[in-house]
Amino acid sequence: EIKACLFDLDGVLVDTARYHYIAWRELAEELGFDFTEHDNERLKGVSRAASLNILLEIGGITLGEEEKARLAEQKNNRYVEYIAKMDSSEILPGALDFLKECREHSIKVALGSASKNAMTILNNTGLTPYFDAIIDGTHTSAAKPDPEVFLLGAQAVNIAPEHCVVFEDAEAGILAATRAGMRSVGIGSPETLGAANLVVPSLQQISVDALRESFAAI
Ligand code: BG6
Ligand code: MG
Repeated sequence: EIKACLFDLDGVLVDTARYHYIAWRELAEELGFDFTEHDNERLKGVSRAASLNILLEIGGITLGEEEKARLAEQKNNRYVEYIAKMDSSEILPGALDFLKECREHSIKVALGSASKNAMTILNNTGLTPYFDAIIDGTHTSAAKPDPEVFLLGAQAVNIAPEHCVVFEDAEAGILAATRAGMRSVGIGSPETLGAANLVVPSLQQISVDALRESFAAI
C-alpha cells in the first residue's frame, strides 16, 4: 500500500533547473570557459558544493577551499535573485493536481530536496501548504545518492520506507530512493532514469490509481 509520496523539488515540482543552469553558466563565463546544457545534466540533484567541483573539473580549474566558497556564494546570490521573482506559473504541469490528489487519498506528502533554497521556492509558488513534512538541504548532512533526505522524510511523516514512493528527475535521486528501500518514479526520460520503477515525462501522466496499479505489491 502506498502511504506516502516523497517529492524532489527542482525539476519535479518546479522549473528551477534553468535558473541553476543560467547562474552556473554565468560563473563559468567569468572563469573563461563554456558550460553547456549537456554539462548541466551532471549537476542535477547534486549539492551546491559538489556542483561547483564538477563545474571546475569541466573547466580544468583547480582552486582552494576559500575561493571555492566565495564562488559558490556568488552563484547562489545570482540564483536567489532569479527565484525571488518566481510565482505559481512556474509549477510544472500536473504537479499541483497530483499533490491535491495525494491529500484526497490521505497519502502523506513530504519534500526531499538537496536545495537550501527550498523554502523560498515553496513559499513563492504557493506550494508550502501541500506538504506534511519538508526536508531540504538545511536538514541533511549527506547528499543524494545517499538515502538520508528520503529516510528523514519518511520518518517525519511516520511511514515505513516500503510504503513510500519517491518522485525524482535526477539519477542520483533515484539511486537514493532505492538505497532508502523505496519505490521510485522517474520524471523525465528513460535514458537517464532507467533505474526507476516507473518513468513518466511529467506528473501530468500520473494519478494515484495508476500508481497503485503499477505498485500493486506495496
Ligand atoms: C537540487 C538541484 O535540487 O538542489 C541542484 O537539482 C542544486 O541543481 C541543489 O545544486 C542545491 O541547491 P541550492 O539551492 O542549495 O544551491
Ligand atoms: Mg531534481
